[in-house]
Amino acid sequence: MNQNRDSFTSKFGVIAAAAGSAIGLGNIWRFPYVLGENGGAAFLLLYLFFILAIGMPVMLSELMIGRKAQMNIFGAFRKLSPGSIWPLVGIMGVGAAFMILSFYAVVAGWTLDYAFLAFKNEFAGKSPDEISAIFNDISGSVWKSILLMLAFMGLSAWIVRSGIKDGIEKYTKILMPMLLVIIILLNVRALTLDGASAGLKFLFTPDFSKINANVILEALGQAFFSLSLGMGVMATYGSYIKKGESLGQTAISVSLADTFIAVLAGVAIFPAVFAFGIQPNAGPGLVFVTLPGIFNQMPGGYFFAILFFILLIIAALTSSISLLEVVVAYFSEELKMKRAFATWLAAGIMSALGVLCATYDRLFTFFEKTSSNVLLPLGGLLIVIFVGWFLGLKNVRDELEADGKVARYFLPFVFVIKFLAPIAIAIVFLYSLELLRF
Ligand code: PFF
Repeated sequence: MNQNRDSFTSKFGVIAAAAGSAIGLGNIWRFPYVLGENGGAAFLLLYLFFILAIGMPVMLSELMIGRKAQMNIFGAFRKLSPGSIWPLVGIMGVGAAFMILSFYAVVAGWTLDYAFLAFKNEFAGKSPDEISAIFNDISGSVWKSILLMLAFMGLSAWIVRSGIKDGIEKYTKILMPMLLVIIILLNVRALTLDGASAGLKFLFTPDFSKINANVILEALGQAFFSLSLGMGVMATYGSYIKKGESLGQTAISVSLADTFIAVLAGVAIFPAVFAFGIQPNAGPGLVFVTLPGIFNQMPGGYFFAILFFILLIIAALTSSISLLEVVVAYFSEELKMKRAFATWLAAGIMSALGVLCATYDRLFTFFEKTSSNVLLPLGGLLIVIFVGWFLGLKNVRDELEADGKVARYFLPFVFVIKFLAPIAIAIVFLYSLELLRF
């Protein structure tokens, strides 16, 4: 192992960091709103299918690339396949990180404001319409969104720069279970609201006529976005994992934890959406207009709301630092920049793009859709093709069995990454490009 590189010191550290990246605004903000825009339960089924059949194998493949190469995503491809064009996949990943963090930080900025508003008890006694007005005021005010975005970006850069990630990891193992407990309490309250059953029906009773090419693509994109796949986060984290750890176990635990949180977020939000008469396809504001309403109707709601938004900020931070890390590892290892400089440069460029995202809704949507529905699945497609067809099956087996145990899932895994996952992703792409009509 390269002596100069950091590595995670425990199995829990690995899972906490990877889960920290996966669990974030993607689960609590993006999953419910995209599901709401795409018809509900049928989307959920497709999403779960993509997590199992494509997400988990892509995650394992990515972790494997990183650990085998012990390098940033670009360097990893160069090392594993010298003289080829594979490193371009790494460049694409770095580009995707810029795109994602620039709109992600805008949403995270709104969350910062929500924590303040909860603290000032601004939501108390407000009707759903009034709460919507508060959200529209924040998201519609360009300068406010920009300042909040900058605050969040600064915080992320400061963490990546000063290497207190380890500290964060230590705390996330207490904080993320706390987030889970609050979401479960939100579930209990949401499920006992008048009219909750319409929300559950929307979430769990599939109407297959709602499925079309776009819904399929959105479900695939959300699976990649939520699991932080297709752009090198998991490969970069994999490069910090020691040989004795089981990559398979990491991929499974992280995917399950991430999916569980997303589904619970859905169970908290949709009953409230219907009970409060909000449109399920209300878009990116959905969570921000529903959750305060539920807290309002909960014993101890004032206290839980503050705690929830603080925990959500932390969940967003553990995701944003993983995005920054991809770029910083690339800048510092490939372009030989000092780590501090690399961090501020990356955060600076992302902030500039973030200003544009906060100013132009259409750019925000373009970055969001292009990264999750195109760049990430495309990156994932290339990653499984690389591991399945170019890395060498002996290398694959060695990585899977590096913990000293026989990997009985070796053959099914190889089948999935060689055939099932690439074909499935390619079909979704072609289908959504209207090249293929069934
Ligand atoms: N998975 C994160 C979330 O669900 O909030 C967002 C994210 C992080 C997406 C890292 C992509 C990524 F590479």
